[in-house]
Amino acid sequence: MTKLDILPDASLRDRYQSGFGNEFATEALPGALPGGRNSPQRAPYGLYAEQISGTAFTAPRHANRRSWLYRIRPAALHRPFEVLDGGAFHDRFDEVPPSPNQLRWDPQPIPTTPTDFIQGLSSIAGNGGAAAQQGIGIHRYAANRSMVDRYFYSADGELLFVPQLGSLRLATELGVLDVQPQEIAVIPRGIRFRVELLDDAARGYLCENFGAALRLPDLGPIGSNGLANPRDFLTPVAAFEDREGDFELIAKFQGGLWRAAIGHSPLDVVAWHGNHAPYKYDLRLFNTIGSISYDHPDPSIFTVLTSPSDTPGTANLDFVIFPPRWLVAEDTFRPPWFHRNIASEFMGLVHGAYDAKAGGFVPGGASLHNCMSGHGPDAASFDKATHADVTQPDHIVDTMAFMFETRAVIRPTRQALMSPQLQRDYADCWQGLKKHFNPGAR
Ligand SMILES: [Fe+2]
Repeated sequence: MTKLDILPDASLRDRYQSGFGNEFATEALPGALPGGRNSPQRAPYGLYAEQISGTAFTAPRHANRRSWLYRIRPAALHRPFEVLDGGAFHDRFDEVPPSPNQLRWDPQPIPTTPTDFIQGLSSIAGNGGAAAQQGIGIHRYAANRSMVDRYFYSADGELLFVPQLGSLRLATELGVLDVQPQEIAVIPRGIRFRVELLDDAARGYLCENFGAALRLPDLGPIGSNGLANPRDFLTPVAAFEDREGDFELIAKFQGGLWRAAIGHSPLDVVAWHGNHAPYKYDLRLFNTIGSISYDHPDPSIFTVLTSPSDTPGTANLDFVIFPPRWLVAEDTFRPPWFHRNIASEFMGLVHGAYDAKAGGFVPGGASLHNCMSGHGPDAASFDKATHADVTQPDHIVDTMAFMFETRAVIRPTRQALMSPQLQRDYADCWQGLKKHFNPGAR
C-alpha cells in the first residue's frame, strides 16, 4: 500500500469531515441545523438544543472548544448515577511508590470469557488526575465483544485510542469513527460513545488526558507543513440512533466509575456544529522528518499531538510515533542513542519491530522509562549499529511504535507491577554491553 492509497477518498468524504480542530457543521437530516442562531425558540424537527463546552467559556479563541448539539432528548435525561466497581480500570496511581527501574510488559492476553471494551480495560500507569486537571492515565484494553446496550463517557479527560489488534467502531454522540491499527482516535471529554468490535477481538492502548486538549505541535523552523498535516484528521458527520430500551450510561468521574439507567440511546444527536468533536488520524500519513547530514534530532521531531502544560515547551502529554523512515545520517550511531531524560516515557508497539531492541518488545507490549532512568538500545542492537555500513541508507519498514511522554513521573499501578505480563528480566537486555574502552587506541 502506498501513501496515496490511504489518503481520504470519496467514500471517506461521505462519512468524515477533514481538518484538525475546525468549526464543523453537520446534519443527518436536511435542515436539522438551525441557521443564524444556536438556540432558537423551537429547534427543527422538535429537537432539543444543547451546548457542551470543552474549555472555559473565556479560554482564548485559538484554544476555545465547544459544540452545539441538536438532539432527540437532552443529556440530563437519565436515572441517578450509582457507584460502579471499575475492576481493573481506575486512576489509583498512588497505590505503590514508583521505582526508578526500567519496566517492560508483554501484551495483555485476549480474554476467553465475554468481555467488552470497558470490562477489558486494565490501568497500567499514570500521574496527576482529574481533580488537578493535569497528568494522564495509561490503560490497555483487550476485548472480544461489542458494548451492548451500554454507553460510556469520561468527565475526567479526553481519550486517545491507539488500537493494536482489531478494528473498532466508535459510535459517538457526534457520529461514527471506524479505527484500525496504525490509526488513532480521540474522543473529547464528556462525549458519550459505545465501542463496537469490527473483528473477533480487539487490543490496544488508551490514554486519558486530564490536561489541556491535545493539539498539533508548533512547527517552528520546520515551517508551515510537515509532521501530522491538519487535513488528514477526520471528524465524523452527524449520525443518530432513535432507540429506546433498558440501557446503561457509565460515567468516569473523578477517577471512579458510575452507572445510571437510561431509557434511550444517548447517541441521538441529529445535527451539531462546533469544534469539541471526536477525530481520527492515520499514523501512516505522518510526514516524518529527520537528519540528512549527521546525528538525528530529539524524538520531539516525531510528535503527532501535544497537550501543553502551563510551562511553555514542557508538555503535559506528547504523543510521539516512531514510523517507517529512511536513516541516512553519516558517521552516526543510527538507532535511538543511550539517554536519560527529565520527561518520563511510556512506549507501546502497534506494528512490526522497534529498531532499538532486538527482541522482547513485541506488538501489544509496553515499556516504561521514568525520569532519569538510563535506557537505550540493547546489547545486540548496539553491536549491530556500531558495525553497520553508514555510507548506505537504511530503510526502516514494517514498524509503528509510539510514546506517551509526560513531564511528571509515570506511576505504575499495583496490578501492573503484580502482572504476569511484567518482564522481570527486562534489565538483562543491557547486561551484555561490554567495556570497549582502550586508552591506548583512538
Ligand atoms: Fe527513551
